[in-house]
Amino acid sequence: MPAKYFPTHGHLLVCQGPNCQARGSALLHRALWNHLERTSLAYYKRGGTLRLTESGCLGACSYGPALCVYRADPAAAGLEEAWYAAVDFPLAARVAQAVHDGAPLPAEHRYGPEDGTQR
Ligand code: FES
Repeated sequence: MPAKYFPTHGHLLVCQGPNCQARGSALLHRALWNHLERTSLAYYKRGGTLRLTESGCLGACSYGPALCVYRADPAAAGLEEAWYAAVDFPLAARVAQAVHDGAPLPAEHRYGPEDGTQR
């Protein structure tokens, strides 16, 4: 029997490497999960569209907690990606809401490529 598949708009990853954990990324991950649950943004809730997982080091060790997000970009027939450093809960919640809404992603604390679209 095939596993149930939950379609999603995007995937958020919160770094749980040692440097980010020293800056509170475990608490950030837990708070973001609670938020996705409470607001029904989590993929398994009715109308929810977001996945959230822990990740290994995202390469911004001196500026954690680090968060990256991937979402489908139908206009470009590709994948949009965004990377964030020094993430606190309000910023993580804004990123999550923007991914869910299909809105432009917040610009503050972004690092990495200017145009995050991969084709
Ligand atoms: S430990 Fe989080 S970016 Fe390296």
